Amino acid sequence: MADAKPISLTRFLLEQQRDQGRINADLRLLIEVVARACKRISIAVGKGALGGVLGNAGTDNVQGEAQKKLDVLSNEILLEANEWGGHLAALASEEMDDPHPIPHRYPKGEYLLVFDPLDGSSNIDVNISVGTIFSVLRCPADIEPGEQAFLQAGTRQVAAGYAVYGSSTVLVLTLGDGVHAFTLDREQGTFLLTQSDMRIPEQTSEFAINMSNLRHWEPPMRQYIEELLAGRTGVRERDFNMRWVASMVADVHRILTRGGIFIYPRDMKDPDKPGKLRLMYEANPMAMIVEQAGGAATDGRLRILDIQPEKLHERVAVFLGSKDEVERVTRYHREAAT
Ligand code: AHG
Ligand code: MN
Ligand code: MN
Repeated sequence: MADAKPISLTRFLLEQQRDQGRINADLRLLIEVVARACKRISIAVGKGALGGVLGNAGTDNVQGEAQKKLDVLSNEILLEANEWGGHLAALASEEMDDPHPIPHRYPKGEYLLVFDPLDGSSNIDVNISVGTIFSVLRCPADIEPGEQAFLQAGTRQVAAGYAVYGSSTVLVLTLGDGVHAFTLDREQGTFLLTQSDMRIPEQTSEFAINMSNLRHWEPPMRQYIEELLAGRTGVRERDFNMRWVASMVADVHRILTRGGIFIYPRDMKDPDKPGKLRLMYEANPMAMIVEQAGGAATDGRLRILDIQPEKLHERVAVFLGSKDEVERVTRYHREAAT
């Protein structure tokens, strides 16, 4: 009889190192450490009001957003877990103005880790799914591990992933060879492989967007959504359904599971901002995951993974998910620009 025992994340990573030669021991350690930190965050999120972790921290982050207690706590958990292992050159996060160097007392490694410690934090206090998003880069050999070292296009990511703290906690990971999902066994405290090679269907009839911004959108964006809303009597000749969790991780996880398109376009509410979401720790890791699962990801014009970042906290418009829809809405934007 075949071995029916589920594969743990530890075993999966070891096999990626030993049998596939895809990762080295440092990258294996890095992913394990991030997964362990996600387990701790999952426990803190799960305690809810009983853990005294709900509500605002009383501080703002570098983007001027009010930090939740859980934003700060999740950031501390990830920092503390990753500082001492010797696998990193530096870390950077949504919740820190500048990159965090590895303290002198610890050895340094070749990788850079950048993360959104808690995504969707407006959902914490109302008991809706939140998550952690992370991206791993190599630190260029000739550069100090400051902001400049992080400014690499998404194509240079060596790994990306997210944990979604939903009705179950699921870690989704890519090492550049497909996308794999691990569900947290809460009794054992182990992530177990529950889906390998996730694939996003190329076609979809489901979209995710914050419709309340419609009046601020650019014309190609309005045209695209109006066609979806017209349903079977319009040019698309079929009905579309809509979902918006307001946690990117939860929306992307649904799209990975059953298809769909996720959009956070540039809008005229604040014309100086090219979008709301952040390139380095939201758009890039999600774009790598989505592409690895057969989907597409653009900023409405260009492939997200090809964008050369200029700032750590740079924002970008995001269109990702099922290929046919991402290509269509990207075409509308390109045609409008010519
Ligand atoms: P964060 O909580 O890390 O700041 O990210 C929130 C993001 C993203 O998760 C979500 O898709 C989007 O903000 C929701 O924005 P709106 O509240 O404008 O809908
Ligand atoms: Mn976020
Ligand atoms: Mn966040």
